[in-house]
Amino acid sequence: MHIHKFERWWIRISYVLIAFFIATVVYGFVSMDLKVIGNYQTIDPQNLSETPFGTPGVREVTNGGVTEYEVYVQTIQFAFLPGTSSPITVPADTRITFYVTSPDVLHGFDVAGTNLNTMAIPGQVAKFTTIFPEVREYGIVCNEYCGPAHHIMEGKINVVPKSEFDKSNLVE
Ligand code: CUA
Repeated sequence: MHIHKFERWWIRISYVLIAFFIATVVYGFVSMDLKVIGNYQTIDPQNLSETPFGTPGVREVTNGGVTEYEVYVQTIQFAFLPGTSSPITVPADTRITFYVTSPDVLHGFDVAGTNLNTMAIPGQVAKFTTIFPEVREYGIVCNEYCGPAHHIMEGKINVVPKSEFDKSNLVE
């Protein structure tokens, strides 16, 4: 079958484009350590008070003899609980697992300057684990439109040195 010269070039270009798009996805997952959050747990958004989300905050857990922390965060119109009125304070160089959900509408939980970014969906629990290597403050922004004050919905994560981490602010 005769294929016109230009036709052949367009076929080649489309192969190159497909390879390029696949390469960008592979690059994101391998080099930038992006992950898709799977296996989410469901929850009744009307009854968060009966779950750890009812007392949101930082909890200490022991995992195989190693001290780690869990952070339960509620995203509400228009604040992070905790995060907005008081920062989420966690130690550096320690495994921190975040659990994020919403009792009202869809919100975002985006830790600016990192690859930590999840949706907070009513009825679902978003979970991700990270280690903050640096002692510094991070901003949290809501990146899903959630109502008239969406643009002012923000919070803070305060990463402190392990030795200075004050356990008196942990929740039971
Ligand atoms: Cu919450 Cu936008």
